[in-house]
Amino acid sequence: MNGNRSGHSVKASMGVYERAQRVIPGVTQLLSRRPTRAALGVSPIYADRAKGCRIWDIDGNEYVDWMSGVGPIILGYADEVVDNAVKEQMDRGGINSIVHESAVDLAETLVRLIPSAEMVRYAKGGGEACTVAVRIARGVTNRDKVLFCGYHGWHDWYLAANLGGERLDDHLFNGIEPIGVPSGLEGTAIPFAYGDLDRLGELLSEHEGQVGCIIMEPMRTELPPEGYLEGVRELATKHGVVLIFDEVSCGFRISLGGVQEVTGVIPDMSVFAKAISNGYPMAAVVGKREVMEPAARMFISSAYWDDPIGIVAALTTLRELERRDAVSHFEVIGASFSERINRAAADAGLDAECVGVAAHPGIRFHVDNPETGKKVSTLFIQENAKRGLILSTGFFFNCAHDEAALEHTESALRESFAVIKDGLDNERVDQLLECDMQEDLFRRMVR
Ligand SMILES: Cc1ncc(COP(=O)(O)O)c(C=O)c1O
Repeated sequence: MNGNRSGHSVKASMGVYERAQRVIPGVTQLLSRRPTRAALGVSPIYADRAKGCRIWDIDGNEYVDWMSGVGPIILGYADEVVDNAVKEQMDRGGINSIVHESAVDLAETLVRLIPSAEMVRYAKGGGEACTVAVRIARGVTNRDKVLFCGYHGWHDWYLAANLGGERLDDHLFNGIEPIGVPSGLEGTAIPFAYGDLDRLGELLSEHEGQVGCIIMEPMRTELPPEGYLEGVRELATKHGVVLIFDEVSCGFRISLGGVQEVTGVIPDMSVFAKAISNGYPMAAVVGKREVMEPAARMFISSAYWDDPIGIVAALTTLRELERRDAVSHFEVIGASFSERINRAAADAGLDAECVGVAAHPGIRFHVDNPETGKKVSTLFIQENAKRGLILSTGFFFNCAHDEAALEHTESALRESFAVIKDGLDNERVDQLLECDMQEDLFRRMVR
């Protein structure tokens, strides 16, 4: 790996980007993969291939990647065990007219691993699975309103929160217009702030008898404050509301049984996707029998949800996570990653640090002015890309992250931090930016 990327260019990526702008509205399907959300003109846009924890772009640049596909890659790119299982399944056929036994095997595996799981339904994406969970909860309680905390996908039920006000600001990012979301849904999705049990209690009382479910990300980079999730559980039970943990983002890295296994707080339903299948589309809604069983009578149905490819990928991924003791690996890699970042920042005299649990931390730059903060974050992505790193302030570990990746990252970061320090001390961050300003970051609850 070439540590000095002075000859770094993404010319080929930019050429394809030009073409994409003419034929794909928004350029990518996932907002977080939009080139305008990285360092446009410097960050890679189009991948040629990926293996382990590395990506090669179509300009021939090699990167150590810390984004892990924005979450789904948990064993590493092109993992041979999962890919061989998938190839074998492909040879025996994918979707067909009847179902495959592996669907039951996976359900039984999830029931074994996840404390709240007694029954299981499948979907293909995280947002879709959250929508299934919300539908089931509304169906079971015969109530329409949803209290939520965090990010849960692009669907109408969730974006309805912004009808009549920008209520998603603290959960996603500012200024989302709920274009195309039926206005009749106004008032059906109500956010609550993470950690504030009193407010949640007030909301449940204000909307007594109308709230079908509470759906929340149980944690992100920090473990929940003591007693918080227990308090949410108590309130949900008291008000007869279904409690759903959305573990799409945090699932499987902290513990194979989810945050619920770590905290001992058992929701009625939980949603898992992304890391469940190492990059093959797959999602699961799991829950207690009394909540899940009524789903059999609800119209919740889709052709691809029985797809044995995603199911076999998930079964194999979960088996490999156990066999490789992935959770311990994330602890070890995470601890070393945080230590190296903190040391490099301190040596550069920069007020920056790694925060959160070892297995899933984030990087924080302590910059007073929010505008400057955004610029620093863009400069960070830019300088990392030039040095063969795909790394922003939020990231996900995978099992292929190793000592060599850590070594490269620390030495690249030392140089990136020196540039940022120079920019801040000499008030020339603008001058140092070689790219357009990064568009608003996904601002999600940090805990
Ligand atoms: C907590 C959470 N829920 C739901 C989603 C949506 O998942 P997907 O992009 O697979 O629809 C995400 C995606 O980042 C997420 O982090």
